[in-house]
Amino acid sequence: MDVCPVIYLVMTMMGGYMAELVIYPAPPTMESSDKYEVLVGLGDPLLGTFTYKTTSNHRHIENHYVHPNRSVSWSSFAFSRGPVIVEVRTQKDFSQCLVRPVSYGYACSRVGNKTARFTVTRNSTMMSVEFDNDYGSWKSDIVDKLLIFAEPLERDVPSKSDPSVMFFDVGVHYLDGQVRLNSSIKEVYISAGAFVDGGFITTDNTKVKFHGRGICSGRKYKFHDKRFQWSLINTAQGTNHTIEGITLSDPQQFFIFAQSPNNIIKQVKMVGAWPYNTDGIEMGVGGLVEDVFIMANDDSLKVYNNDMTIQRVVIWQMQNGAVFQTGWWTERDLHRVSISNIDVIHTDWCTFHDRDCGMLSRNNAVFDLAGNVKVINMNNVVFQNIRLEGFCPRFVFWTMPAGINGTSSNVRFIDVSVGSQPSSGQLMNEISGYKPNGYVSDWLFANLSVSGRCIATPNAGRFVIDNSTTSNIKFSC
Ligand SMILES: *[C@@H]1O[C@H](CO)[C@@H](O)[C@H](O)[C@H]1NC(C)=O
Ligand SMILES: *[C@@H]1O[C@H](CO)[C@@H](O)[C@H](O)[C@H]1NC(C)=O
Ligand SMILES: *[C@@H]1O[C@H](CO)[C@@H](O)[C@H](O)[C@H]1NC(C)=O
Ligand SMILES: *[C@@H]1O[C@H](CO)[C@@H](O)[C@H](O)[C@H]1NC(C)=O
Ligand SMILES: *[C@@H]1O[C@H](CO)[C@@H](O)[C@H](O)[C@H]1NC(C)=O
Ligand SMILES: *[C@@H]1O[C@H](CO)[C@@H](O)[C@H](O)[C@H]1NC(C)=O
Ligand SMILES: *[C@@H]1O[C@H](CO)[C@@H](O)[C@H](O)[C@H]1NC(C)=O
Ligand SMILES: *[C@@H]1O[C@H](CO)[C@@H](O)[C@H](O)[C@H]1NC(C)=O
Repeated sequence: MDVCPVIYLVMTMMGGYMAELVIYPAPPTMESSDKYEVLVGLGDPLLGTFTYKTTSNHRHIENHYVHPNRSVSWSSFAFSRGPVIVEVRTQKDFSQCLVRPVSYGYACSRVGNKTARFTVTRNSTMMSVEFDNDYGSWKSDIVDKLLIFAEPLERDVPSKSDPSVMFFDVGVHYLDGQVRLNSSIKEVYISAGAFVDGGFITTDNTKVKFHGRGICSGRKYKFHDKRFQWSLINTAQGTNHTIEGITLSDPQQFFIFAQSPNNIIKQVKMVGAWPYNTDGIEMGVGGLVEDVFIMANDDSLKVYNNDMTIQRVVIWQMQNGAVFQTGWWTERDLHRVSISNIDVIHTDWCTFHDRDCGMLSRNNAVFDLAGNVKVINMNNVVFQNIRLEGFCPRFVFWTMPAGINGTSSNVRFIDVSVGSQPSSGQLMNEISGYKPNGYVSDWLFANLSVSGRCIATPNAGRFVIDNSTTSNIKFSC
């Protein structure tokens, strides 16, 4: 399939307005995915958009917990107004296909041999396209995953000659680890079609904006490579950094470690989380995360600090980690946190377990408290419009560890839907404090539905709530 070497803009009049579709260039030396071909257009004929692929085998060799012969393919394009037709050509034929999140309402259909089509009407959509010959089950995850990202048009491309911009143009760039940014760099720009083998770390108080539509990958680096501190992108130093638009792939540890105040992360896509410890995002106080896609094989989002906002995030939780993690570190202050419009498209904790799943590790739940936390002060945390697709082994596992001091109060879950959860067996939702100084009070589950049924009592939702260390945990429908 021919792929454009430069940005390609398609424009057409549609019902009285100008529709624009942008096809990105590809790194000239890179091979496209052999699993899927993706084509897009405002009408026929459609044009090919480059499809990247990351595979698990090099991580399997490092760590036997990583299943071999897995792949994630992905392709991105941008548009202002649609609708955009997306066509996917597969290696094996199928009967049915599905676009997740299902809340987007994009119907996928087979339009010919090994060919699927669907129509995308909104930009900032982050989709998984799935086929009935590889839907995954308790025996296996989806072996060859395909993600498609429809992005808004890019508006603020910096000048290549600006000395305060580190500019990565179309092509493959090897960085030999994590570049230490000093005060001379205010922007790191990774253009569409740029593939950067390496990462970045801020080292002083200069506010840095990372952006573009290119890719930053850890594929060339060993698990926990010593040339990196924590993550592909680390903005723990400074304040008010922005990470926007880029795709991060195959990290050597975390994707983003942004433990400084007031960072903004938007339209970032994280793919190819092979080993454990590929956590998604850790944010400092005042952090904002929006329109982001996270595939993580450890905690997707750390909910560790005050005044955080997390919205419009699509999550693929692999076999390990929590979706929203509040634990691990010894002290925790957590006030005024808002988490809304979240689509969790897979929670794969039980995959590769027996059919009944059995027990899970303490860090496997959507809302979780893991590790030996000693002090916690948590108040005014709101989850709203949370959609958990398919089988979700465990929604809440929030049990305080021994010796903890502190209170978790005023935590509200409003309008949460869970596709299904275990109806018997050991896996339950659990909430408890720990005597004598750990206490949970005033939690509300309003309109929590499981398999389409609103949960009005702890029993109906298979919640085990320790009544000696909690009070006023309510369910309402
Ligand atoms: C991966 O798949 C290939 C082809 O089916 C097979 O020969 C190989 O043994 C597999 N690799 C591993 C590590 O299982
Ligand atoms: C994204 O889509 C919206 C709604 O169709 C449109 O108004 C907006 O201009 C698009 N944004 C960009 C940056 O293309
Ligand atoms: C699909 O493939 C079969 C066998 O190769 C062929 O007979 C049929 O015409 C094809 N159908 C379409 C819609 O291309
Ligand atoms: C700052 O980083 C740039 C780009 O890596 C480098 O060229 C420059 O020498 C560095 N300046 C200092 C003072 O370290
Ligand atoms: C950082 O962001 C905060 C919150 O938006 C704002 O109040 C503050 O002025 C910003 N500081 C800088 C240096 O940009
Ligand atoms: C917890 O509180 C008790 C009683 O106030 C105190 O003795 C203990 O040192 C505290 N522990 C921690 C880890 O703060
Ligand atoms: C729960 O859902 C019902 C029906 O959709 C709605 O009337 C009610 O306001 C919702 N409650 C909350 C707290 O969102
Ligand atoms: C508290 O839980 C225990 C054990 O589950 C139960 O026997 C007891 O009746 C409960 N007390 C209240 C007040 O709900």
